[in-house]
Amino acid sequence: MMHGSSAPLRLAVFASGGGSNFGAMLKAIGAGRLDAEPVLLITDRPGISAIEKAERAEVPVAVLPPSGFASEGAFAEALLEVLAQHGADFVALAGYLKKIPAEVVQAYRHRMLNIHPALLPAFGGKGFYGQRIHEAVLEHGCRVTGVTVHLVDAEYDTGPIVLQEPVPVKQDDTPRSLAARVLQVEHHLYPKALQLFAEDRVILEDRRVLIREA
Ligand code: GRF
Repeated sequence: MMHGSSAPLRLAVFASGGGSNFGAMLKAIGAGRLDAEPVLLITDRPGISAIEKAERAEVPVAVLPPSGFASEGAFAEALLEVLAQHGADFVALAGYLKKIPAEVVQAYRHRMLNIHPALLPAFGGKGFYGQRIHEAVLEHGCRVTGVTVHLVDAEYDTGPIVLQEPVPVKQDDTPRSLAARVLQVEHHLYPKALQLFAEDRVILEDRRVLIREA
C-alpha cells in the first residue's frame, strides 16, 4: 500500500512551462474531482505561465533554478526543504524539464508521478520531450499514440505505469495538431491518476500497478 490511508493529497507540482496540466489539476480540485490541496508549485525558471496560474489560485511558488546551486546535493536539499516547509506529501511532475535529484525521488518514492505524452515504453527516455515526441511518432507512421501517467524512478520515463490512454493518429496530423489532441487527454488523465492515490487505491506489485475497485 502506498499512501497509507484515504486522505486529500498535499500536492506539490513541478513545471517548467505553460502549466496546462497544473491548471487542469487546479480545475479538477475546484470541481471536486480531485481530492487534493495544491500546496506548492516548484519551477526552475521565472516568468512562465505556470507561475501566473499558481498566483491566481493563491498557490505558493518556489523558483529554484538548479544552476543557482553549487552542487546537485545542494539543489536536492533545497527542494526537500521547501517541500517539507509546505507539508507536501505527494509530487506531480507536469512538464518539468530538469532531472529530479535521486534524493528527492527517493524521499517521495511511490508518491511522485510524471505524465508523458506518448504510450511508454515507446517514444520515451532522454531526448524524447515536447514536439520531438510527436514528430517521432509521425515519422514512424504510428496509427496510435497516447498518454502515460507513471510513477517516477531514478531514470527518465521508466517507472511503473499507473494509467494510459490511447489517442488515434490522423493521416493529416502535424506534430502540433497531434500534441494538441494528446494534451486534451492529459488534462483528464492526470487528475484521474492522482485521484486514485487520494483514494488509496494504488497497489504496487514489482513494477506492475494494480488498482483496487472503488
Ligand atoms: C505535456 O505534454 C506533458 O506530457 C509533458 O510536458 C507537457 C507539459 O505541458 N511532460 P503543460 O506545461 O502542462 O502545458
